[in-house]
Amino acid sequence: MNIDIRLKREIDNSYQVHLGELPALKFDTKIAIVTNPTVSGFHLDYLLSKLSAKEFCVITVEDGENFKTLATIEKVLNEMFEHKFNRSSMLIALGGGVIGDMTGFAASIYQRGIDFVQIPTTLLSQVDASVGGKTGVNNSYGKNLIGAFHQPKDVYIDPYFLSTLPSREYAAGIAEIIKMAVCFDKAFFEWLEEADLNDRSVIKEAIAKSVQTKAMVVSQDEKEKGLRAALNYGHTFGHVIENETAYTQYLHGESVSIGMVMANELAMRLGKMNADEAGRIKRLLVKYDLPVTYAISNIDSFYEAFFLDKKSLDSNITFIVPEHLGGVQLRSDISKEIVMDVLKAYVESKGE
Ligand SMILES: NC(=O)c1ccc[n+]([C@@H]2O[C@H](COP(=O)([O-])OP(=O)(O)OC[C@H]3O[C@@H](n4cnc5c(N)ncnc54)[C@H](O)[C@@H]3O)[C@@H](O)[C@H]2O)c1
Repeated sequence: MNIDIRLKREIDNSYQVHLGELPALKFDTKIAIVTNPTVSGFHLDYLLSKLSAKEFCVITVEDGENFKTLATIEKVLNEMFEHKFNRSSMLIALGGGVIGDMTGFAASIYQRGIDFVQIPTTLLSQVDASVGGKTGVNNSYGKNLIGAFHQPKDVYIDPYFLSTLPSREYAAGIAEIIKMAVCFDKAFFEWLEEADLNDRSVIKEAIAKSVQTKAMVVSQDEKEKGLRAALNYGHTFGHVIENETAYTQYLHGESVSIGMVMANELAMRLGKMNADEAGRIKRLLVKYDLPVTYAISNIDSFYEAFFLDKKSLDSNITFIVPEHLGGVQLRSDISKEIVMDVLKAYVESKGE
């Protein structure tokens, strides 16, 4: 006997991204602000000056990717239970992508799911991580392997937060902006070539264009069945570099920068990009002091490491291949020979 369970999927997960000075935020529920000591030191008072809620508390977790773990999630959940949070309570993420991903994940599982709001404070989280509802933590098997799709209720992007961001972190965010433009929007790329993103009035426009691009991608493919995977341009190579250097030498955006240059080399070998286009992308990365090369000590182990990437758990590697400027392809059919050819150019720093 079969019993049908019919679940109508008519849930509207739409939300708004507000770009500009943080407005007054009024909530008639219990709120917890999840943050870390670095961010709260700079910006908690600013948020509190704008916030009114029925009741609120601050949950502080340790700073760093190393603490993006289930253990930290448990700590957050325990504090929520201590404060008697219920299903109408809400979380606010105040921080970079690490805080945003963890807050969203805690919200997704607390009593089977409560609302959360993103207030991203790094450039990377403002242009990418805070939008699209990917939440989660790392484990010993890899990055972001545990998580859930859980969209925020609202996202508030206030460029003012960037005033305290270290310049390397700022540039790492620019790498993700360049990624969006190369894959999806040639006019945006050409605009970036002329723009000075170190000018804080210009960065607001770049954030808006990036968020619009990400919103377009996510609204077409929320659960990453296809198009959304293109946002991983540069990440397939970049993750291996992050891994090989034990997450200590490069920031995420920096390894993505090198990864994009490597992906461009692959695109050139496949006839999808010409040397002029690849050169323009490299010049843009260099303009913001982003690294564009890496000395591979062993190309065989570099290649093997692709299979540790979660997108390759099925033993196929999917490469995100940029197609000229403004286009992108997902390719799982690229021969090992072609990839090794790209890697060979990077053996012991020949990748310049
Ligand atoms: N969910 C997604 O779609 C998505 C997309 C891209 C990246 N991510 C995740 O985002 C994370 C990386 O995010 P990140 O680059 O923002 O790193 P991060 O959150 O670790 O922040 C970087 C550093 O900057 C500090 N910081 C944050 N805001 C600051 C400010 N205004 N002033 C001074 N210091 C500040 C942080 O405390 C931290 O030390 C990774 O875990 C990655 O997996 C998620």
